[in-house]
Amino acid sequence: MNKWNERYAADSGFVFGTEPHEFIRRVAPYFPESGRALDLAAGEGRNGVFLAECGLQAEGTDLSAVGVGKARRLAAIKGVGFHAYVADVAEMAMPSETFSVITSVNCHFAEPVRSRLAQKIVAALVSDGLFAGVFFHPEQAALAKGPNDATMLADLPTLQTAFSGLEWLVAEHRREGVGDEAKSVICLLGRKV
Ligand SMILES: C[S@@+](CC[C@H](N)C(=O)[O-])C[C@H]1O[C@@H](n2cnc3c(N)ncnc32)[C@H](O)[C@@H]1O
Repeated sequence: MNKWNERYAADSGFVFGTEPHEFIRRVAPYFPESGRALDLAAGEGRNGVFLAECGLQAEGTDLSAVGVGKARRLAAIKGVGFHAYVADVAEMAMPSETFSVITSVNCHFAEPVRSRLAQKIVAALVSDGLFAGVFFHPEQAALAKGPNDATMLADLPTLQTAFSGLEWLVAEHRREGVGDEAKSVICLLGRKV
C-alpha cells in the first residue's frame, strides 16, 4: 500500500477537507461556464469536485485507489458528477486540445518529469484554456511540512519556464505561517496563448 493510500484509509473523514484549496477557489471567477476540466493528483477530490460544482465536466486522477474511492464519495455527497480514476499523472496520456481547465495542487516531480508533464498539460489545454497550479517552493524542504526533497521542487521562474506556452494571470511566490505551519508556496494561473 502506498503512503497516500495509508493516509487516506486512516482518516474516516477527508484528510485535506471537502472544500477546494483556497487558490483554486480564488481563481474560479476566471473559469468558463462549461467545458472539460481535469484535476491532476486529485487525492480525495476536493478540488476536482469543486470544478464540477463550477459547472465544468470534471474528471480527476490520482495514484491512490483509496483517494479515488473517497473522491467518488465526495462527489456523491455534493451531488455532482465527477469522473475519478487511478492513473500516474507522470505517465498517462493526455488528449491534446481537450481541457478548458486543468488543476494541480501539491503534486511535485523532479526533472525531467516536471518539464515533460508541464508541456503535456499545455498541449492538453484548448486555446485560452487555464492551468491553475499550487506548488511548494524549494524553501519548503527546510520547513516542517511538505516534501523534504528539494529536487522535487522548483522556484517561480523555473516553473514558468516549464509551462512555456501559457501567459500568466497569476504568478506568485508567497511565504505564510510560522514554525510548524510555515509554508513557502507558488501559485500559478496561466492561460494558453
Ligand atoms: C498532497 S496530496 C494533494 C491531493 C490533492 N491535490 C489535494 O489538494 O487535496 C498529493 C497527491 O498526489 C498524488 N500523487 C503523487 N504522485 C502521483 C502520480 N505520479 N500520479 C498521480 N497522483 C500522484 C498522491 O497520491 C496524493 O493524493
